[in-house]
Amino acid sequence: MAPDDTGAAEVLSRAGAADATDPLSAYRDRFVPLPDGVIYLDGNSLGRPLRRLPELLGRVIEEEWGGGLIRSWDHWELLASEVGDELGATLLGARPGEVTVSDSTTVNLYKLAMAAIGARPGRDVVLIDSDSFPTDRYVLDGIAERHGLQVREVASHLDEGFDVEAVEASLDERVGLVCLSHVGYRSAARADMAPINRAIHSSGALVLWDLCHSVGAVPVDLTGTGCDLAVGCTYKYLNAGPGAPAFLYVRREHQAQLRPPIWGWFGAADQFEMGASYEPRAGIGRFQAGTPPILGILSVREGVRLLAEAGGPSGLYPKAVALTAFGLELADRWLVPIGFRVASPRRPDRRGAHLTLEHARARQLCQLLARAGVLTDFRTPDRIRLGMAPITTTFTDVARAILRLAELAVP
Ligand SMILES: Cc1ncc(COP(=O)(O)O)c(C=O)c1O
Repeated sequence: MAPDDTGAAEVLSRAGAADATDPLSAYRDRFVPLPDGVIYLDGNSLGRPLRRLPELLGRVIEEEWGGGLIRSWDHWELLASEVGDELGATLLGARPGEVTVSDSTTVNLYKLAMAAIGARPGRDVVLIDSDSFPTDRYVLDGIAERHGLQVREVASHLDEGFDVEAVEASLDERVGLVCLSHVGYRSAARADMAPINRAIHSSGALVLWDLCHSVGAVPVDLTGTGCDLAVGCTYKYLNAGPGAPAFLYVRREHQAQLRPPIWGWFGAADQFEMGASYEPRAGIGRFQAGTPPILGILSVREGVRLLAEAGGPSGLYPKAVALTAFGLELADRWLVPIGFRVASPRRPDRRGAHLTLEHARARQLCQLLARAGVLTDFRTPDRIRLGMAPITTTFTDVARAILRLAELAVP
């Protein structure tokens, strides 16, 4: 049963009205336009480029690199921590000196997990949520194999994620580190950080949050909720580009006790003394390793500044809620009757900015959607992920994508 014309027309006109009053609509012009006929619901895998990036980066290449040459390191040197501070203040609820931009999420996770494990000697278990992003699991398994530790799981439901009770059920005095996804990559299930952090701390462990699917989409308050450590990427909702450097957060109070596992010269005190032995820098800078990617960090700064201008989480999050709620309503109306199941939490305070649908032919439908110009993600085992980046996605995008999906899936 494809949606009847009147139903579709009514929904599209409602979507158009929501777009017309969307306070974020003006920001869409700040992005490189989409190719004709493309509906992009994949900003949670790769955000779209800002229009001004080519000119900005071109200028930096010509003037700062080409003109300033090696001298430009006088101001590039502090860029990672400066941009980390902007990102932390705007989108993470972090204090100055707690965030830096570096490496990939994977490498940052390794650095912080190793440092945390080292700070809890005698504790030989690391916990991870059972539906974490694969790289997180691989990193912890690799650490465990090499250092004789055990990785245990916090039971996470494929659609609903995990709650504080699930975390508590896995905690004991052997656990030194708990690594959790704040918003699940598959279902968008969102964890309630504050009670989970309290439970972890009362057992004496440290917590490390993966914020890849949170930052720029949902509110995060690392200080207020008592987080210890966090990592996340910048190429999704921050629109910093493929391979743009990730970020890491270390709570100020822990920094002096945590020793980085990679002793690189950019994390060393008195870097240019070129000393024979490594002494870590004071502060967050110790978690840098090698030369930071300046052009990538500048792209991160542009993404952060745009989201800050759009109001930060208080500007972005209401739109994320409205888009996913609209998608849910249309999925219930047009997709559930033809064999789909909503595989994301229905409570807005329990989900991030994407909506996941289960269907037996999900992989094939995703490919058909892509051929029709609707870009989404397939996720195992049988899910289609519709990413709704608040700064760029329109209500009309959501309506058209779901209408197209309903047409393609008609049995
Ligand atoms: C939740 C989550 N964690 C980690 C990663 C890996 O990030 P990176 O490729 O920057 O290491 C991703 C990538 O999509 C992710 O979604």
